[in-house]
Amino acid sequence: MGDPNDLCAFLDDAWRHLQRGVADSRSPARYPAFATVAAGGTPEVRTVALRGASRSQSMLQVHTDIATSKVVALQHSPKAAFLVWLPRADLQIRITTTVDILTGSDIDQHWDRIPEGSRVSYGTHPTPGSLISDAYAYEKPSDRERFAVLSCSILFIDLVQLGVRHRRAGFSHENDWSGKWLAP
Ligand SMILES: Cc1cc2nc3c(=O)[nH]c(=O)nc-3n(C[C@H](O)[C@H](O)[C@H](O)COP(=O)(O)O)c2cc1C
Repeated sequence: MGDPNDLCAFLDDAWRHLQRGVADSRSPARYPAFATVAAGGTPEVRTVALRGASRSQSMLQVHTDIATSKVVALQHSPKAAFLVWLPRADLQIRITTTVDILTGSDIDQHWDRIPEGSRVSYGTHPTPGSLISDAYAYEKPSDRERFAVLSCSILFIDLVQLGVRHRRAGFSHENDWSGKWLAP
């Protein structure tokens, strides 16, 4: 490690891991936990695949089915949090975001890039979370109308790195990502 007080390098590291997550399905950053808050105030968390990470736009992207609970939650409360744990780097990345649910022709380019075999993730019948009579009593047609991109604009990034002495820092959009050290 270089200068342990270099906030900029700490944030650079986090973005490097996020971008690797998008590019490499074996990276632990590929599958963050994604948390939302349901209409009644109950927190909900699930694994998702990280499909986009743009530092210049301060944005993360996830693909989903509009019939899932996470979309219902986001329609009610458009905030979501990501959690990534990178064991080899001893780094925890927590990110809070505000989410736009993109559908329709705006996301044609995303749909076009999804392999045929993966499109069946969007359109499960009956809808995800429905009661079914046995484990396999469902079908997975691909349904373009059910596909959505969650465009997650980053508000805050909290990094914790474990070491002989831990480091923690927070970076906010409001402060143009300048960052501040925090007690771990
Ligand atoms: C490794 C893994 C990756 C997943 N990726 C996604 C994803 O990218 N998008 C998604 O909507 N669900 C994904 N899922 C399924 C979700 O974890 C969840 O079961 C499903 O979306 C329904 O969640 P909800 O009812 O909370 O909305 C993934 C599950 C696993 C185990």
